[in-house]
Amino acid sequence: MKLSGQAKLAGVIGYPVAHSLSPRLHGYWLEYYGIDGAYIPMTVKPQDLAECLRILPKLGFRGCNLTVPHKEAAVALMDEVEEHARRIGAVNTVIIEQDGRLFGRNTDGLGFLENILVNAPAWLPPSGPVTVIGAGGAARAILVALMDAGVPEIRLVNRTAEKAEKLSQELGADVIRVWPWQKRSEALEDITLLVNSTTLGMNGQPPLDLSLDRLPHKAVVNDIVYAPLKTPLLAAAVARGHTVVDGLGMLLYQAVPGFFAWFGQEPEVTDRLRQRVLEGLQ
Ligand SMILES: NC(=O)c1ccc[n+]([C@@H]2O[C@H](COP(=O)([O-])OP(=O)(O)OC[C@H]3O[C@@H](n4cnc5c(N)ncnc54)[C@H](OP(=O)(O)O)[C@@H]3O)[C@@H](O)[C@H]2O)c1
Repeated sequence: MKLSGQAKLAGVIGYPVAHSLSPRLHGYWLEYYGIDGAYIPMTVKPQDLAECLRILPKLGFRGCNLTVPHKEAAVALMDEVEEHARRIGAVNTVIIEQDGRLFGRNTDGLGFLENILVNAPAWLPPSGPVTVIGAGGAARAILVALMDAGVPEIRLVNRTAEKAEKLSQELGADVIRVWPWQKRSEALEDITLLVNSTTLGMNGQPPLDLSLDRLPHKAVVNDIVYAPLKTPLLAAAVARGHTVVDGLGMLLYQAVPGFFAWFGQEPEVTDRLRQRVLEGLQ
């Protein structure tokens, strides 16, 4: 590890933060590219977030990532928020400018989309409807990314229908259609991509109860859950011969813009990086 008195500094702020894979991820890139820098985990309570963010420029930090539960609250604490992050209503990447101003971005949607485009290159966003299961925090970024990529119709299915309706209204998008939870298997007809953005299928959670019988054989299946990497949904999709994309790539690709802004090197997402981050999950 290269760490001089002039090291470039960044990190991740969360509460708790011990579970975060970001230090391992950025730490790998720092080592791989031989960069004089450090990326550290910072445990910050919600009531201390504003104060801690203001201190970062004074400490010489170049920026940070934000994770649960800070992403939404951070929007109001930035000096400037990019339009994309404002639409999502959450900031996951803070870039500290030369004069100490905090610039907020959201790279979750970008990470989601890049993961699909790289791992399922035959999928074309404008080619047909997409079904997204779940309307939580992650879904917001995914919906904005799909809308911006030109998906003609997005079927949004959530256990609590009101949340899906509210999200659709907030995003003000004609392309989003809310489907009832009971009709989730019908919502798979004619689609080109199925995304699970719920917590179902995660270690310790029940699997997503969804029949894939109506899913067209060419449809791609993506689960943004990455612990385990092969969720019951992905296993069922593989058994039917679908192209599947696991959730780890979203985490890796969302980290690229922050690393580039803080450390001046565009990092590559490689199998070796995947392996290193996966070791952190075990
Ligand atoms: N790969 C990545 O980089 C990445 C990034 C972000 C998040 N994630 C993963 O994505 C998942 C969701 O994260 P989030 O931040 O969006 O969570 P969240 O805001 O808490 O939303 C949870 C979602 O799961 C649904 N849900 C939970 N329990 C359910 C059940 N028993 N039956 C039906 N639906 C249920 C919720 O539905 P209701 O509205 O009805 O409660 C809601 O839509 C997590 O597993 C997280 O680790 C991955």
